[in-house]
Amino acid sequence: MVGVAGALSLDVAAIRAAFPVFGRRVRGRPLVYLDTAASAQMPAAAIEAMVRHQSEGHANVHRGVHTLSYEATEAYDAVRERARRFLNAASADEVIFAHGTTSAINLVARSWGDAHVKRGDEIVVTLLEHHSNFVPWQVLAERTGARLRVAPLLPDGSLDRGAFEALLSDRTRVVAVAHVSNVLGTVLPVRWIADLAHARGAVVVVDGAQSAPHLPVDVQALGCDFFVCSGHKLYGPTGVGVLYGRLSLLQAMAPYETGGGMIERVTIERTTFAPPPGRFEAGTPPILPVVGLGAAIEWLASLDREAIAAHEQALLARATERISEVPGVRVLGTAPGKVSVLSFVMDGVHPHDIGTVLDAEGIAIRAGHHCAQPLMHQLGVPGTARASFGVYNDLDDVDALVSGLQRVREVFA
Ligand code: ALA
Repeated sequence: MVGVAGALSLDVAAIRAAFPVFGRRVRGRPLVYLDTAASAQMPAAAIEAMVRHQSEGHANVHRGVHTLSYEATEAYDAVRERARRFLNAASADEVIFAHGTTSAINLVARSWGDAHVKRGDEIVVTLLEHHSNFVPWQVLAERTGARLRVAPLLPDGSLDRGAFEALLSDRTRVVAVAHVSNVLGTVLPVRWIADLAHARGAVVVVDGAQSAPHLPVDVQALGCDFFVCSGHKLYGPTGVGVLYGRLSLLQAMAPYETGGGMIERVTIERTTFAPPPGRFEAGTPPILPVVGLGAAIEWLASLDREAIAAHEQALLARATERISEVPGVRVLGTAPGKVSVLSFVMDGVHPHDIGTVLDAEGIAIRAGHHCAQPLMHQLGVPGTARASFGVYNDLDDVDALVSGLQRVREVFA
């Protein structure tokens, strides 16, 4: 079986050993962490890089002439180059450190959106968007008098391509889509979307928060204009995210925040701004999280991405098959090629109750609306239970989940 071969080639035992959190117990049991889509655990390599930096190398960046500041600047800028390679951006100037996916999307919606979206224009998103890639566009539409169009899904959770295409027009200015759904695991056809959107003169914004941890990302091959992802979903720390932007667009954009670090020259009369990426990094940046993110990306890149994908697919396939055997369980999202995010509901049991019973067994899942209320409305559920798998999960975790769900059944029988 491809999946099992993938699982074996990944050496999951060694990977687990690289994550200190798996040394602890939760509720008296070994931790079964199935909430990587909410936030991934961090390998020791990233934790130690941050401890080292904070202990021995901390200083502000791009400001000092002293040794510590010089070294911190080198470390910070090296991560920019590391992130460029990770995303295959054409230039490190296209890589901006934001606080996370949400702040990166808000930056684009404000800086690009306010300048280019006018009354009567249209913004296209899909029904499976996380609120971070929905609300900023909805608010931009309200602010400008533009219209938000929402592309529907097919019953398996994949994009209704015909309906999507029909939504595009010469009035479309922005198409903002998730690369991967945080609820359904659906992988959207970004290249196809980008080609159609560009033919209409629209820019394409891709929320990659859930794809970057699972799939190799090549922003040039995807053909997008902006791509965003979060450090903490990439096995790094919270407080940092990456915004990729096509350089020609960034160069023409006004700053989102203003202040120190993003200027070229300030006089009493006026200020001129630094070129990208500095223009979009006002104030002291999240230096420590950037250092941690760099180490996390380095660690992730040291693994075989194909083997990760095969391993996670094997876990998803086994988990989908086995939880479907639990009476009353229904899986939501069955699009071909989906990633290892498994949402489900259980007849007569609220998702929060599922999560609570599983927690008593040391199993961490997410339960709720997953910041995707329009999708929940469409699915006709208040929320779902969601197990999400990362590089450190194994088939024992799947077995634990299934046993836990049997226990939920017993408790609520
Ligand atoms: N966006 C994160 C999730 O889906 C928090 O859980």
